[in-house]
Amino acid sequence: AKYTWVEKDTCIACGACGATAPDIYDYDDEGLAEVIFGDDGNTGTTEIPEDLYDDMQDALDGCPTDSIKVGDEPFNK
Ligand code: F3S
Repeated sequence: AKYTWVEKDTCIACGACGATAPDIYDYDDEGLAEVIFGDDGNTGTTEIPEDLYDDMQDALDGCPTDSIKVGDEPFNK
């Protein structure tokens, strides 16, 4: 299983992740990215379905500030 969240403290609102993986990432009022999939609320506790893994990986690879976090366990933030 895969889980993801965005470190807003380092996100520079570049906009790449929401373009790459719009089903997973969107932006708050300040343009900072957050996980919107399911009811995650950027907690990193919602299992991401396999059909979104490619998009998630592309977003992970494309973030210029390494603000996208992906792990095999819920982050329990
Ligand atoms: Fe922020 Fe990285 Fe997305 S800088 S807007 S988390 S691609």
